Amino acid sequence: MSPPTDHMSPSSSLSLEAFCAREVASFEAQGLKRWMRPVVGPQGPRLSLEGKSYENFSSNDYLGLAAHPTIQQRARETLDTYGTGSGASPLITGCLEPMRALQISLAQWKQCEATLVFNSGYAAALGTLTALSGPQDILILDKLCHACLIDAARMSQATLRVFAHNHLEQLEKRLAWARETMAKRPASERGRIGVVVESVYSMDGDAAPIPSIVELKDRYEAWLMVDEAHATGIFGPHGAGWVHELGMQDRIEIQMGTMGKALGASGGFIAGSFHLIEYLKHRARSLVFSTAPSPVVCGAALAAVELLQTQEGQRQRERLHLNIRTLQGAIPPKWQSGGAQDGDMGWLYPGELATPIMAWMAGSTQGSLDLSNSLAEHGFWVPAIRYPTVSRNGARLRVSLSAAHSPHVVEDLAARLVETSASYCSPS
Ligand SMILES: Cc1ncc(COP(=O)(O)O)c(C=O)c1O
Repeated sequence: MSPPTDHMSPSSSLSLEAFCAREVASFEAQGLKRWMRPVVGPQGPRLSLEGKSYENFSSNDYLGLAAHPTIQQRARETLDTYGTGSGASPLITGCLEPMRALQISLAQWKQCEATLVFNSGYAAALGTLTALSGPQDILILDKLCHACLIDAARMSQATLRVFAHNHLEQLEKRLAWARETMAKRPASERGRIGVVVESVYSMDGDAAPIPSIVELKDRYEAWLMVDEAHATGIFGPHGAGWVHELGMQDRIEIQMGTMGKALGASGGFIAGSFHLIEYLKHRARSLVFSTAPSPVVCGAALAAVELLQTQEGQRQRERLHLNIRTLQGAIPPKWQSGGAQDGDMGWLYPGELATPIMAWMAGSTQGSLDLSNSLAEHGFWVPAIRYPTVSRNGARLRVSLSAAHSPHVVEDLAARLVETSASYCSPS
């Protein structure tokens, strides 16, 4: 057991209050203080914050649906019919008709047998991994998996192994080790092996090599969970996800999505087989022991899923992809190797899959704050992403694009980003 730090020591006289104050002061001293800034008005390409208006490059509302009139209208109608609250766990009486209809619509859209809706993506990850894995199992995660997947894997009490981001050889080594470990155990103590990845990574904006991962998990008889939080609505036929773009939906045991990003509502879901979903209804504690999502939110998400499958949905996706191409095309090549070495500035991972997330390495924590503040002075809101969201030396700006941005504003942002970065250092 590690020795207690001073705030944990039974002999310490530091009160809870003093402990919290000391820790926050320490975050501030390290440039890691966080703020909850009140935003006035809906999410959109412009943002009204603390009395000023900015071009908003910080939202995950990738398709501009968070304030879309069709979806707002459906939310209003749902409010009139069902009220605001669901009143109970979905297993008691909280599964109101909009939630049931949403689950059916999601299953049709995702071309799977069944889906289950949770209050958030975080709750979906937590409920699913803790229900499916226990001390006898092994979970293998990509190093850059989102905190909700990591927390869920830890809480499951499975043995955890991490592989370097998108590193297929390391994944194969972990799988081989897991198989060997299981084979050594008596049959009654053998568990299952699960692999957990994202399709588009939230902070780096790159994609996982899904076909190779599927091939490996099949070879080593593991199951696979793919978190499509940042791909849902954006890629694939009708925006069903990157896994659908690749045509691999039938070979992946668990697909996860969120409704708080491109769908413009909130909540999370799991898509998979009938038996998987039936089991989760019994054992996913974040679903069983939590009040069901508000009917208004379910109504809005349902309207978004429907809209994504129309021409309007297709147009929104095309607008977003045009903005992605515009931003990427406006970054000079010399700024396209950010992150190759510690302290580098510039765009991480250019090329490969074009996603709405651009990670712009800032060289240091202070550098990320300086860049972000400087862009804000010029009217662009691009948040600094710091530890613990990324590693201590991985501070960056995270530019997220929306279909609702106009391409010329995206070009202005690119020019300002490069100019501001150049005033701090030359590119790597
Ligand atoms: C990759 C990923 N998965 C899951 C989540 C959690 O989703 P939610 O915000 O719906 O809890 C996030 C949220 O940022 C995410 O980026």
